[in-house]
Amino acid sequence: MTGFAFCGSHCTLDAALDAAKRLIAAGEELLPIFSYTVAGTDTRFSKARDFCKRAEELCGTRGIYTIADAEPLGPARPLDYLIICPCTGNTMARLALGLCDTPVTMAAKAHLRNGKSILLCPASNDALGAGMKNLAVLAVRRGIYFTPMRQDDPKNKPFSLVTDFSLIPDAFEAMKNGTQLRPLFL
Ligand SMILES: Cc1cc2nc3c(=O)[nH]c(=O)nc-3n(C[C@H](O)[C@H](O)[C@H](O)COP(=O)(O)O)c2cc1C
Repeated sequence: MTGFAFCGSHCTLDAALDAAKRLIAAGEELLPIFSYTVAGTDTRFSKARDFCKRAEELCGTRGIYTIADAEPLGPARPLDYLIICPCTGNTMARLALGLCDTPVTMAAKAHLRNGKSILLCPASNDALGAGMKNLAVLAVRRGIYFTPMRQDDPKNKPFSLVTDFSLIPDAFEAMKNGTQLRPLFL
């Protein structure tokens, strides 16, 4: 079972769900994990409850909504892999600092404790600004892999980086073999 954790990059949630769909079509079993933001924020892109329901229907199982429900993903109910998609600047900062105060960061902490690997799929308007140090910290941390990303709009959003969602299955396969898919920056 692979955990598929959704964070509050609301404009990329549909792309993340498409990526999850491709992984399921390729035979993966996914457990959806929702950040508090995703589970609790209605935006112009989607209603929180509708989105979580779509993800749960796609994965065929109820998702993880709380820190208490994510904690057993350590010793009691270990995952094979964890994908954080999309991964916000906020969640990357938390992971870089070792914070554990959301269902997603709890799942990450539990999973790393088991010596397992995590695929991060960043989408953040300030990944090359305030978030750049967090990217650097995570890029050299054992067990952390990234999906290749690009500057999606260098002119209007000069500090933005967004994962290439079409490369998630390839990055996932590479991670299973202990390899970072490159080039990291497209
Ligand atoms: C409409 C909307 C779109 C957002 N898009 C992004 C985004 O693409 N990337 C990002 O890092 N934060 C984005 N945010 C901000 C995050 O939702 C916010 O930092 C939140 O605290 C993230 O929490 P989480 O990482 O626990 O999901 C957006 C917020 C809103 C309201």
